[in-house]
Amino acid sequence: MKHLILTLAIMFSLNLLFAQQNSTIVLNKPDLERGLPLMKALSLRASAHEFGTKEVSISDLSDLLWAANGINRPDENKRTSASALNAQDIDIYVVIKEGIYFYDPAKNILQQAAKGDHRREIASSQENFAAVPLFLLLVSDLSRFSRGDGAKLLEMANIDAGIVAQNIMLFCASEGLLARPRAWMEKDKLREILQLKDKQHPILNIAISYKE
Ligand SMILES: Cc1cc2nc3c(=O)[nH]c(=O)nc-3n(C[C@H](O)[C@H](O)[C@H](O)COP(=O)(O)O)c2cc1C
Repeated sequence: MKHLILTLAIMFSLNLLFAQQNSTIVLNKPDLERGLPLMKALSLRASAHEFGTKEVSISDLSDLLWAANGINRPDENKRTSASALNAQDIDIYVVIKEGIYFYDPAKNILQQAAKGDHRREIASSQENFAAVPLFLLLVSDLSRFSRGDGAKLLEMANIDAGIVAQNIMLFCASEGLLARPRAWMEKDKLREILQLKDKQHPILNIAISYKE
């Protein structure tokens, strides 16, 4: 038993080391059996005020991202979150101490988008958030809408981000994770760090941690 625990501990640390040294992180397949019944998760949904500092595991992160906006109908290339005109305009960036990673739902991987700790730019003047171990940053790419312009496009993008955010909040409620959706962040700095195009808009970030 001791031997098994030691082997698992070594495998886990190697996995983390691999993740930190590589620009691509392979995610796990979603575990469709986990979680509370929906009504129970809804009864627990809340925005947290204080967060823990322990890093979120790859298996929890994998399921969280799939719940947020993963591909649930591969035959039709459709997602767990609805989007206006099926634009699938919301990209998720994983912001952790080691850097910022782009979630690619088709390949089920994270691709490094920026090096270094950028949680301060996400926290902005809410400085106590800079120590939160994980943020999911929701960025809408307006160029993916087949029609519409100006305020109407931004309205659809905001609603699409809200739907992804609620999936995240419900997964967190179901799994006992702490979470808070936030519009507050240094959008211009994040645009620069991520080298976003004009039509890519950071809309929301969700702060996430384990309960400690
Ligand atoms: C669109 C949106 C933007 C928000 N922005 C922030 C924010 O920038 N900072 C923050 O601390 N909370 C933010 N919140 C969290 C709300 O303050 C919180 O949801 C509200 O107080 C209701 O609490 P509850 O989520 O626990 O029901 C935001 C929530 C939403 C839906």
